Amino acid sequence: MRVIIEASPESVARRAAGIVADLVRRKPRCVLGLATGSTPQRTYAELIRLHRDEALDFSQVVTFNLDEYVGLGPDDPHSYRHFMRQHLFDHVNIPPGNTHVPNGLADNVDLACEQYEREIHEAGGIDLQLLGIGTDGHIAFNEPGSSLGSRTRLKTLAPETIRDNAAQFGHADRVPRLAVTVGVGTILESRRCLLLALGAAKAQAIRQTVEGPVTAQVTASALQLHRDVTILLDEAAAGQLERRAYYHEVESSQHLLETRRGPASGGVRR
Ligand code: PGA
Repeated sequence: MRVIIEASPESVARRAAGIVADLVRRKPRCVLGLATGSTPQRTYAELIRLHRDEALDFSQVVTFNLDEYVGLGPDDPHSYRHFMRQHLFDHVNIPPGNTHVPNGLADNVDLACEQYEREIHEAGGIDLQLLGIGTDGHIAFNEPGSSLGSRTRLKTLAPETIRDNAAQFGHADRVPRLAVTVGVGTILESRRCLLLALGAAKAQAIRQTVEGPVTAQVTASALQLHRDVTILLDEAAAGQLERRAYYHEVESSQHLLETRRGPASGGVRR
C-alpha cells in the first residue's frame, strides 16, 4: 500500500483528480469505479475544472458506481445516481449511456446484481476504483462482517452508517435500511484502488485499514491484499497512524524509487 498524507482536503482532491486525469489521458477508453459521499466531492469539482480549463476528455470513459440505496429512483435527490449527475456527470462530456449506477428500484435485485457484475466484466473490468471509507471501516456499503469475497448484492446498512448519513436525509429514520453494493471481492478485482479519507472522524478506521489485521470487521482492510492501492489522506485522517513518519519518508524518496524501478515495472506501486 502506498500511503500519501497531504496537508489539506484541497491538496488531497488535487492529487486524486491528477491520478484520475493521468489515466484518462493515457487510456481515453478507461473504466472508472466511482464513489459517492462528501469525501470525493472536491475531487469531482477538480475533474470538472480540468475538463473545462484543460480539455480533459471524458467522451470515451466508462464508469461504474459502487452502490445505491434500495427504494430510491434516479430522480430522487438522495439517490446516488442523482448525486453523480449533480457533482460530475452533468458537468463533463461523458455520454450518459457510459455511466452505470446500481438500480435501487430493481424488481429482482439478485438478477440486477448479477447483471451489474457482468457489465463490469464486459466493459473490461475497472481500471481505477475510487473509494471512500465509513467510520465503521466499510468500503462501498460492505458493512462489518461482509465476506471479503463478496460480490454485488443487497446489504443492510450498519447503525454507524445510518447515523453518519442521517444529516443528508434530515433524520436517521428517513435513511433507507438497504442498499445494493458491489462486493469486497468485486473491488479487489479492480486494477488499481485509490482510497480517500478526510478528517479526524476517519482516523481510527484508517489506522485499522492500514496498520490493523485483515478482517471482515473492517472491510477496507481487505485492500492490504491488493497489489496496487494508494491511500490518500489529509493530516487529520492520518492522525492515528503509528508509522506516519515512515510514510512521509517513502514519499520524499519517491524520486529515488522511480530511478531504481526501471521501465518494466508497469507502474505498479507496491
Ligand atoms: P463520506 O462517506 O465520504 O460521506 O464520509 C464515505 C463512505 O461512507 O464510504
